[in-house]
Amino acid sequence: MGVAHNQPAKLAAFEAHYKSDAGPSPMWVFGWPDDKNETMKMGVSVPGGLSFLVHHDFKTPVPGLDQFPRQDRPPVAASYFFFRLMVGLGFAQLFLLILVGFCDWRGALERFPWLLRAMVVSVVGPFIANEAGWIAAEVGRQPWTVYGLLRTSDSLSKSVAAGQVLGSIIGFGLVYLFLFIVWVYVLGDKIRRGPDTSGMES
Ligand code: HEM
Repeated sequence: MGVAHNQPAKLAAFEAHYKSDAGPSPMWVFGWPDDKNETMKMGVSVPGGLSFLVHHDFKTPVPGLDQFPRQDRPPVAASYFFFRLMVGLGFAQLFLLILVGFCDWRGALERFPWLLRAMVVSVVGPFIANEAGWIAAEVGRQPWTVYGLLRTSDSLSKSVAAGQVLGSIIGFGLVYLFLFIVWVYVLGDKIRRGPDTSGMES
């Protein structure tokens, strides 16, 4: 796994893997990281799951956050939750697709209108997953811009004021908001009109 090799502290934050294990490292399917006590409060884990993802066996330990100096650790909660949001949405989309495909194959799709509605709502899933993935990747890389070499605090431009950064973010936000509204309008219009069947024989 690339992250384990190139950014091991990021992987430990993604998994809220606070303490290195002597044996197999678990993978948390879900759970609540307790940052103060540096442990997982509650949840369900796959024993040796993280070891398997990284080393392809269920035994070899994966380094925890305790292997890294405190000042070199990323914020755990944001990395952990945004990573799970991304992965959760990915699997939810996959599950929905399989379910819809199966119902369609059995000719039973019309019997489950809620599935069709879920398909419409699911259009936003990949967009949210994209943003969540990006946030997880960027928060998880902290405090580094170039992992282990260049700190974020050393890599910002001294000649660009905070107000200018805020201004450009707001500007980009407005442009994208406008494009989003156009996209929703055009897509809605296309869906309302339906497919063009004028050239088809009846
Ligand atoms: C379903 C299981 C998924 C897994 C196991 C997974 C895994 C990962 C991992 C490990 C990273 C961190 C990469 C890094 O920091 O080097 C990442 C980042 C990312 N993921 Fe996912 N992902 C999944 C689903 C998705 C989905 C469904 C989307 C969007 C439709 C998505 C979009 C992204 C994006 C945009 C990034 C940031 C990439 C970057 O900035 O370098 N992921 N993903």
